[in-house]
Amino acid sequence: MSDLSRLEKTLYRLEAQHACLAYAFAAIADRPGPVVELGLGLGRTFDHLRRHLPEREIFVFDRVNKAYPDCQPAPDYLMLGEIEQTLPPLAPRLAGRVVLANVDLGSFDRESNRQVAAMSARLLPPLMAAGGLVMSDLPLELAGCEGVALPPGAREGRYHLYRRPA
Ligand SMILES: C[S@@+](CC[C@H](N)C(=O)[O-])C[C@H]1O[C@@H](n2cnc3c(N)ncnc32)[C@H](O)[C@@H]1O
Repeated sequence: MSDLSRLEKTLYRLEAQHACLAYAFAAIADRPGPVVELGLGLGRTFDHLRRHLPEREIFVFDRVNKAYPDCQPAPDYLMLGEIEQTLPPLAPRLAGRVVLANVDLGSFDRESNRQVAAMSARLLPPLMAAGGLVMSDLPLELAGCEGVALPPGAREGRYHLYRRPA
């Protein structure tokens, strides 16, 4: 049995995600470019992103739209389907421009986590701008990116932060 209960895992993940988002908002403030949200889910992080980054284009991906009615992305920016299928067509538009990607695709299914981590590692690096940040609930191996120390308020291992060097 894990040392942490599921309640604690969820609590610490959300706490770390919130701290990483605050860090990212400050870090990208002077860097123009779009944002990518992998995993709309209920729309909680999307809602946070759009409130703090009202001028940014935010491209959102999920296989289904289960977001709260008041957390709906604009239809032109919501890509529904398997990310393996929906992200590559946008690569020409996003390549080298993304200043923040939030990868929130994890679940309690180990095999699914392995697959989405591999998929993210394959698809994300070419999209990232110099100085761009990737935040992820799963550890990722991102070519050309370096790990970034978590900000205060984020417990080690509960979220993961990477940067493409400027
Ligand atoms: C943890 S939830 C996202 C939570 C969300 N960020 C929020 O704040 O409510 C993960 C989401 O990723 C989606 N997902 C996982 N793997 C996917 C894939 N390969 N393609 C598309 N969507 C995927 C699931 O459908 C699920 O909605």
